[in-house]
Amino acid sequence: MSTLVRAIAPSNIALVKYWGKRHTALNLPLTSSFSVTLSEMISVATVQESTDGQDHWDIQGKPDKAQRLLQHAREATGDTRPLTISIQNQFPSGAGLASSASSMAALGRALGAFLGKGDISVDTIADWTRQGSGSSVRSLFPGYVHWEAGSSEDGSDCIARTRFPASALPLALTVCVVNDQPKPIGSTAAMEKCRDHSPSYQAFHDRNPADLEAAIAAVEAGDVQKLGEISENNCLAMHDVIREAGIDYFLEGTHAAIAHVRALREQGVPCFFTIDAGPNVKILSPPEYQAQIEESCKDLPGVLFTLRDAVAETLVPVEHLDVNP
Ligand code: PMV
Repeated sequence: MSTLVRAIAPSNIALVKYWGKRHTALNLPLTSSFSVTLSEMISVATVQESTDGQDHWDIQGKPDKAQRLLQHAREATGDTRPLTISIQNQFPSGAGLASSASSMAALGRALGAFLGKGDISVDTIADWTRQGSGSSVRSLFPGYVHWEAGSSEDGSDCIARTRFPASALPLALTVCVVNDQPKPIGSTAAMEKCRDHSPSYQAFHDRNPADLEAAIAAVEAGDVQKLGEISENNCLAMHDVIREAGIDYFLEGTHAAIAHVRALREQGVPCFFTIDAGPNVKILSPPEYQAQIEESCKDLPGVLFTLRDAVAETLVPVEHLDVNP
C-alpha cells in the first residue's frame, strides 16, 4: 500500500483586483486585493510517490506553473521523492474563471500534506502556490479574503487571510460563460504590457487603498449595493487599463451580460458584475435572487451557458488514502 493525498481548492473571484506585480521573480503583487472564495468551481489535486523513479503529470494545460510550485515545495521540505501528480479542474480552464488559482492552491495543499507531512503553515504553502499563480493564495482561505501586498523584499508580509466568513454577507455567483476556451493572453504577460503601455496603470493602483477600505466597510455593513458599486467600478477601471495596452478581453456576450445586469438592477434586482482577465461575466447577488438571474441570462446573445456558485463557508479538509502503488 502507498499513500495518496487528495486536496481540493476552489476558485476565487476578486472584488478589488490585483493587476500588477512589485516583484516579478517572487510574484509579489503591487497592491492588496479582496475576493470571495467559491464552493462549486473546484480543482482536485492528487499526489503519490512514483514507483519508476520519474515524475508524472496528468494536468490540463502546460505543467510549467505546477513544476515551479513543486520545485519550491521540494526545496522547502528537502523531500525530493519522484511524484505522480494529477490536477483536474471541474470547470472550464484558462477562460478567466481563475482555474490557475484553484489548481495551484489544490496542488499546494496536497504537497503541503504529502511532502510537509501536514507540518507546513498555510503561509508557507501560499509562498509556494504564489510561484504558480499569484491569486491562488486567496483560494487557500474560505469566505471573504484580504490578500495584503506587503512591502518586504522577501514577501514575508505578503499574506492572505479570511477577513469575513461567507455568512457576513451571503452571496451567490452566477457565471455567464461567453467563451470556454483559454484566453488569448495570460495575466502575467498582460500585466507587463499594461505596466509598459497603459497611461492609467498608475492611477488604477493609486485608487486601490480607497476601494479596499470601501469594499471591506460594505461587507461589514451588509450593503450589497455599495459592494457592487465598488466592485464594478474597480473591474471596469482594470479593463480600461487593459484596453489601453491594446488588449480587449470582452466579447459580444460580455457586453450583453453587463447591460443585462444594469437592466436587472433598474428593475429592483440587487446584483452586480465582475470580470477577470477573460470574457466571462460573474454576477453576484443575494442567494434568493440567483434562480431568477440565471434564468434571465440564458437567452442573452453570446452567452453559451451559465454556472452557479456561492461564497464558501469552509474548505474541504485534505484526505490521506491508502492505495495500491
Ligand atoms: O493570479 P493571476 O496571475 O492569475 O492574476 C489574477 C488577475 C485577476 O484575476 C484579473 C485579478 C485578481 O485579483 O484575481
